[in-house]
Amino acid sequence: MILRLLPLLAFLGAAHGAQPDAPSPIAAQLRDLQWGQLNFIHTTDIHGWLGGHLQEPSYSADWGDYVSFTKHLHDRADADGSDLLLIDTGDRIEGNGLYDASDPKGQYYFDIVKQADIDLICSGNHELYKKNSSDGEFRYTVPNFKGNYIASNLDIYNPDTGKLEPLARRFKTFKTKNQGIRILAFGFIFDFTGNANNTVVQTVEDTVKTEWFQEALREKDIDLIVVFGHVAIRSKEYSLIYKTIRSVQWDTPIQFFGGHTHIRDYKVYDSKSVALESGRYMETLGFMSISGLSSGGSKKRLSSPQKPSLTFSRRYIDNNLFSLYHHSGKSNETFQTEHGRNVSAQINNARKSLKLDERRGCAPHDLWVNRAPYPHKQSIFTWLEKEVFPNHFKHSSRAKGGNKALVISNTGAMRFDIFKGPFTKDTEFLVSPFTSGFSYVKDVPFKVAKQLLKLLNNEGPIMDEIARQNLMLAPPERIAGRANVEASDDFHHWNVPGPGAQVHLGDDKTLTPGYTTEDDAGSDGDDTVHSTISFYNVPNCIQAAVGFELSHGNASEVVVFDDEEPEKVDVVYNEFIESWVLLALQYLGQKYNESDTAPYVEGQTLTTVITDWVEANWDVAGEECP
Ligand SMILES: *[C@@H]1O[C@H](CO)[C@@H](O)[C@H](O)[C@H]1NC(C)=O
Ligand SMILES: *[C@@H]1O[C@H](CO)[C@@H](O)[C@H](O)[C@H]1NC(C)=O
Ligand SMILES: *[C@@H]1O[C@H](CO)[C@@H](O)[C@H](O)[C@H]1NC(C)=O
Ligand SMILES: *[C@@H]1O[C@H](CO)[C@@H](O)[C@H](O)[C@H]1NC(C)=O
Ligand SMILES: *[C@@H]1O[C@H](CO)[C@@H](O)[C@H](O)[C@H]1NC(C)=O
Ligand SMILES: *[C@@H]1O[C@H](CO)[C@@H](O)[C@H](O)[C@H]1NC(C)=O
Repeated sequence: MILRLLPLLAFLGAAHGAQPDAPSPIAAQLRDLQWGQLNFIHTTDIHGWLGGHLQEPSYSADWGDYVSFTKHLHDRADADGSDLLLIDTGDRIEGNGLYDASDPKGQYYFDIVKQADIDLICSGNHELYKKNSSDGEFRYTVPNFKGNYIASNLDIYNPDTGKLEPLARRFKTFKTKNQGIRILAFGFIFDFTGNANNTVVQTVEDTVKTEWFQEALREKDIDLIVVFGHVAIRSKEYSLIYKTIRSVQWDTPIQFFGGHTHIRDYKVYDSKSVALESGRYMETLGFMSISGLSSGGSKKRLSSPQKPSLTFSRRYIDNNLFSLYHHSGKSNETFQTEHGRNVSAQINNARKSLKLDERRGCAPHDLWVNRAPYPHKQSIFTWLEKEVFPNHFKHSSRAKGGNKALVISNTGAMRFDIFKGPFTKDTEFLVSPFTSGFSYVKDVPFKVAKQLLKLLNNEGPIMDEIARQNLMLAPPERIAGRANVEASDDFHHWNVPGPGAQVHLGDDKTLTPGYTTEDDAGSDGDDTVHSTISFYNVPNCIQAAVGFELSHGNASEVVVFDDEEPEKVDVVYNEFIESWVLLALQYLGQKYNESDTAPYVEGQTLTTVITDWVEANWDVAGEECP
């Protein structure tokens, strides 16, 4: 590991690149990339954040900067005879105004994404929740990345012909440009069941048995197998693919790329097989290099003598200009390419047309999804429970008619933190992009209703069924991470700092907080040396009382002052969890089904509920909002 010392706490001047309103990155100690014979840059779970993070200096570079950065790395590969491949493993959409704020959604998005020369690309589950989105993949993304989009276990009903067909090719074999490394690539999605009925996800178990897969595996003239997908790298799906490949190709190097769980992670399967997962929301550019591969297709050699043994190296790059300048060997004067500048301008124009900077209110303090425990005054869920839901829903016609309610939401409906400062039209979608509304079952006996949360959050038959269907009600970050496997309570920290991350600066205050990842290769994977941020698990679901007070409640129990306990309540929930609420009610001996449900407030979604509350409570029209 080469550790480069750079001046600390020196703010960069007018940064060239990024969006005009993006904060300048903060200089920090960086670990270099270990450039190899074959190099990869991996993005995953971008969720529309092509404009970068406008409130976080560590992640403030945009997709235009990605275009410039990868151009420089391509030049480097061409200059020294190595290779570079770009990979994206899905969930590119939903979660940022740039995608969600247009009607139809994604109006600007497809033309921006296609500006990067992605070599291997696949679908995530978010591309498949709605027919419109998967049709968008079929009509735009697949043709935009012609030949590079791979759908090993995903079919679509062709929107023009109605025929079921693979969304894209099942696999691909190709040779790298400079080294002539012969690659066999598969592109998977995990065993997802929540898709709209215009797509069909074949389970990985069924797929590895198919004739085409078995035949592809028996290809002899291969130097490397790349398995990329919207699949967690520590999952039953990837274990099975690994075992299946090894049963046929016992010695061929395998490089996995994964996603879905929004974490930085690296797993070693065996001495010739490793996996990389590269975070979320354009916070992370995952770098991976391999040296020592045979390159049967070519006689070309790297200028430095090739190492006889196979070596892998990974790095999680914080997506900001300070890091990108450094790793590309460029400066603020030389970094931005004309193409990159055009893409940044394209993003800025789209943001302007969509009015994403329009202010809804001014957040008085930070509210966290995972960075505060729950319950806690800085938890976004405590805020929903105590402020937003009770105050918003008391204006509903049912509540005004004197009907008390318990409002239940899954925590996974909240996708991102709220930072002190402007709450904009963009923030709405960052926080919760989902379009499902609130429904209710009326007049449920309170003695029954108050047991629902426990069933949705704790062990039991409902939880088992949720797990069996491979669904998540909590934010995806929750189930991820090695440390998390040992989690014994709801307040377990993950991404614990490892000894290798400790760098003696004399004064710890000079480190900015950020990712301090621990993975199978140790704790030196992050490019930027940071101080640790604690993350906390949160329950699947939370609830709020409307029209009465909970004396206290938590993930597993509701307690009401006895003399105030209502006889019956409306059970209100976001539609995403309707089947689980109904299943839980049935389990509790109630005969409710879909015909007993109705919209609670017509046309309202979690996004509009939050926005209405922000406008009513945090509006500071005309005032400064720092
Ligand atoms: C680049 O950074 C230097 C040092 O901060 C500054 O003096 C210079 O004006 C910057 N150049 C551009 C084009 O932003
Ligand atoms: C679905 O696609 C159609 C046609 O492009 C569009 O008019 C409609 O607004 C889209 N619906 C959503 C929810 O984006
Ligand atoms: C999908 O569901 C819709 C509405 O329920 C139905 O009209 C359509 O036929 C279904 N399509 C397929 C391919 O099953
Ligand atoms: C950048 O945009 C300008 C103006 O629209 C255009 O003339 C030029 O060809 C573009 N360059 C690249 C590399 O995309
Ligand atoms: C929830 O509240 C109940 C009742 O006060 C208590 O017994 C239980 O320990 C609490 N659980 C958690 C996780 O705080
Ligand atoms: C719901 O239950 C009622 C009786 O309680 C029954 O008549 C109806 O068919 C059921 N609907 C569905 C969709 O199962």
